[in-house]
Amino acid sequence: MKKIFVLPISLMLAFTSCCQKNATCQTSNEQAILDAIQTRVSVRQFTGEEVSEEQIQTLLKCAFSAPTAVNKQPWDILVITDKEIIKQIGEKFPNSRCQNNPSVVFCLCGNMEKALEGEAREYWIQDVSAAMENLLLAAHGMGLGAVWVGIHPISERVQAHRELLGLPSHVVPLGLAVVGHPNEQPEVKNKFKEENIHYNKW
Ligand SMILES: Cc1cc2nc3c(=O)[nH]c(=O)nc-3n(C[C@H](O)[C@H](O)[C@H](O)COP(=O)(O)O)c2cc1C
Repeated sequence: MKKIFVLPISLMLAFTSCCQKNATCQTSNEQAILDAIQTRVSVRQFTGEEVSEEQIQTLLKCAFSAPTAVNKQPWDILVITDKEIIKQIGEKFPNSRCQNNPSVVFCLCGNMEKALEGEAREYWIQDVSAAMENLLLAAHGMGLGAVWVGIHPISERVQAHRELLGLPSHVVPLGLAVVGHPNEQPEVKNKFKEENIHYNKW
């Protein structure tokens, strides 16, 4: 009789303590994610210090974890570590911040051969943008700095990056993620504005 009660009670205790552990763990995980999202800022000045191959792979994994329409994953990412190519981009487009010592530049592209057909093809833009945001957040979470530099839909920028990076015609560069160790600490901007929120109907 005693045994019948002791076993379930000890199981219950073990379960409760495990739940409490997980609850604490989940809360701190949650907090870390929420903090990372809300404290991300564009960083445009870098120290030039190396970003390791392992860090690059982590950034790529995070980028490719983004959701895509019908799970098409209509993307390709060019990883640019060649300082000469980074310099060329910086010279042609000072707005790219490539002249400010980044360690690695990712060119996030839509691949029209992998995209949906018809009107839905344009979902590639949201898909690749989601990957971009994931990469920026991951960089921030890893203590790196990053800035999104727009390419598509500015045709001059698209053409120039096609030439500089040798992109085939079915590949459209959406933007660059310019990444490095931060050499500035920009203020986080408050973008939460009540007037931009509409509940239920406009
Ligand atoms: C589509 C897009 C294009 C952007 N292009 C550039 C750019 O060419 N150069 C640059 O320095 N920042 C660029 N940015 C970064 C924005 O300027 C920046 O996100 C914005 O000022 C808000 O600041 P925050 O990222 O620090 O919150 C771009 C951002 C987006 C989303």
